[in-house]
Amino acid sequence: MNPLIAPSILAADFANLQAAIEMINSSEADYIHVDIMDGVFVPNISLGIPVVEAIHRHAKKPLDVHLMIVEPDKYLSTFQKAGASHLTVHLEACTHLHRTVQGIKDLGCKAGVALNPHTPVRLLEDIIREVDLVLLMSVNPGFGGQKFIDNTYKKVNALSKLIVETGSHARIEIDGGVSMDNAGKLFSAGANILVAGNFVFSSKSPAETIKKLKNIV
Ligand code: DX5
Ligand code: ZN
Repeated sequence: MNPLIAPSILAADFANLQAAIEMINSSEADYIHVDIMDGVFVPNISLGIPVVEAIHRHAKKPLDVHLMIVEPDKYLSTFQKAGASHLTVHLEACTHLHRTVQGIKDLGCKAGVALNPHTPVRLLEDIIREVDLVLLMSVNPGFGGQKFIDNTYKKVNALSKLIVETGSHARIEIDGGVSMDNAGKLFSAGANILVAGNFVFSSKSPAETIKKLKNIV
């Protein structure tokens, strides 16, 4: 599978979101990663539904919405209506994960499950065949611009193995601290999609950086 890149809009200039979206539209990016934080599941608040709708109005790439919120079931259909094509919930925030994943698929979205850095991949054993995407957090969720956690490579290996063993079609997405220093190694280990926030938006030419990340292998 070709390496896919999802620039994280969290790192963009929120006073000039349209420019950021146009940059992503005309780049080689595959998705726009949209981080939703509720100040409860994570110690930060990011953006809400009207902003997702506004992003969707301008976006030519699918919205990969990462819900870092408690009780995500309450908001799934709202985010689907706001324009999400992928909806990813945290395993740690779902008591009835199977039901939540089914709910996402019933809305016509791709269903993703995210794991915090401390959550073992083996907890996905009995759900992996149902999910379209597993997002491995490679930093503790809540903020952009943090340092990549090296234990992620081990988790990518374990997850790749689980996917092969179970015949799952799930894709592996890595989120947090992605840069040219780890992108090649992550793709080689079996990652399919890399989220990149600060590394893209703080670079001189974000579109060029997206291209470089995508073509690293
Ligand atoms: C962190 C978010 C990430 C963040 C990544 O909680 O889930 O998507 O935007 O940003 P960088 O690439 O700067 O670590
Ligand atoms: Zn994210």
